[in-house]
Amino acid sequence: MYDFDKMTDRKGTSCSKWDNMSSMFTEKGLLPLWIADMDFRCCEEAIEAMRQRVDHGIFGYTVLPDSYFESIAGWMQRRHNWTVRKEWLVTSVTVVSALNIFVQAFTKPGDGVIIQKPVYFPFEECIQDNDRRLVNNELIEKEGYYTIDFEDLEEKAARPENKMLLLCSPHNPVCRAWTEEELRRVIDICSRNGIYLIADEIHMDFVFKAEHVPVGTLTNYSKLAVCTSPSKTFNMAGLKMANIFIPDEAMRKEFTRRSKSQCGIIPNNPVSITGISAAYAKGDKWLDEVKQYIWENFQFVDAYLKEYMPKLKMTSPEATYLAWIDFSGVGLSGLELRSFLRGKARVALDEGMVFGKSGENFARINVATDRTVVRECLDRIRDNLAR
Ligand SMILES: Cc1ncc(COP(=O)(O)O)c(C=O)c1O
Repeated sequence: MYDFDKMTDRKGTSCSKWDNMSSMFTEKGLLPLWIADMDFRCCEEAIEAMRQRVDHGIFGYTVLPDSYFESIAGWMQRRHNWTVRKEWLVTSVTVVSALNIFVQAFTKPGDGVIIQKPVYFPFEECIQDNDRRLVNNELIEKEGYYTIDFEDLEEKAARPENKMLLLCSPHNPVCRAWTEEELRRVIDICSRNGIYLIADEIHMDFVFKAEHVPVGTLTNYSKLAVCTSPSKTFNMAGLKMANIFIPDEAMRKEFTRRSKSQCGIIPNNPVSITGISAAYAKGDKWLDEVKQYIWENFQFVDAYLKEYMPKLKMTSPEATYLAWIDFSGVGLSGLELRSFLRGKARVALDEGMVFGKSGENFARINVATDRTVVRECLDRIRDNLAR
């Protein structure tokens, strides 16, 4: 059993979460539960493999060995019942860089790209930074539970100027694990209207109670791509390799042309390859334990809110390690909520308004950390709400 309560001090490692708070927060002394990585050490099997690779001492130009694909394919098969083919895999530096490349390669300036707010804010950035038009298919929220507005999606997908949907599955920040039925409806709408379906499944390994349904198990649609990454699953965001599956050959070639030939991106880092392969091959037990700990953290937050702050409501945590908390019951939203969290409670969270206007009553708490940190965060909020 891994000991997740044994907090590893990350300060002084140049990590964004603890060492680079000033990039986002001007206030000093905040407790950080913001950016989406974990405060847990990665699985020992991956650390040991990387240690041995580092000991070799030569880090020259590198190709992807077959074992890299095989370890990922094995994981997708045994954990998600998804059979992936070797030729589908293209590596990218990050999922966000892949999303940018998809937008650039398969839409033109001025084309509409659909997203479903509130959503991970780089989705919006990669549309606007590439001079495409943001088309929002706002999620429907009812008592803290989010669903897709299919009527609106149908109508927006049918407009010829709209070309692509960036689907967040599972959805950050609203904690939804989309069901097979919901995903089938999304696929149906996209395929009837020729819309590129780019599924960001980076949170696929953090689905609680239900199962994650990989969109690739439901369709052979030729305009589909699925973005996955060890960055969330194994806490490897800094290793900078994401695995993108593009079943259609022409689409894959165009993605590769844009990424490698035009931009020179070949993200084959020898240390990352070694660590990622080992994690996917041997990290099952570690992930199961991490998930259990995170699940208990969600339960802890739920119980704490019910006992001490019943006016705050947590969205049912179907997926991700990011608790989505509604502050409207205490009359806080937008900039007021921001100044309360930073100025009074002194916690660094992702304030909901960055994910879209409908998120402004919310704050996102990253619970992939030691439970004492989660408790301290909630204590700070409670004590200052009471004042
Ligand atoms: C939905 C989603 N996609 C992508 C990312 C970032 O992944 P990467 O660092 O590989 O770009 C995140 C990180 O929080 C995320 O939540």
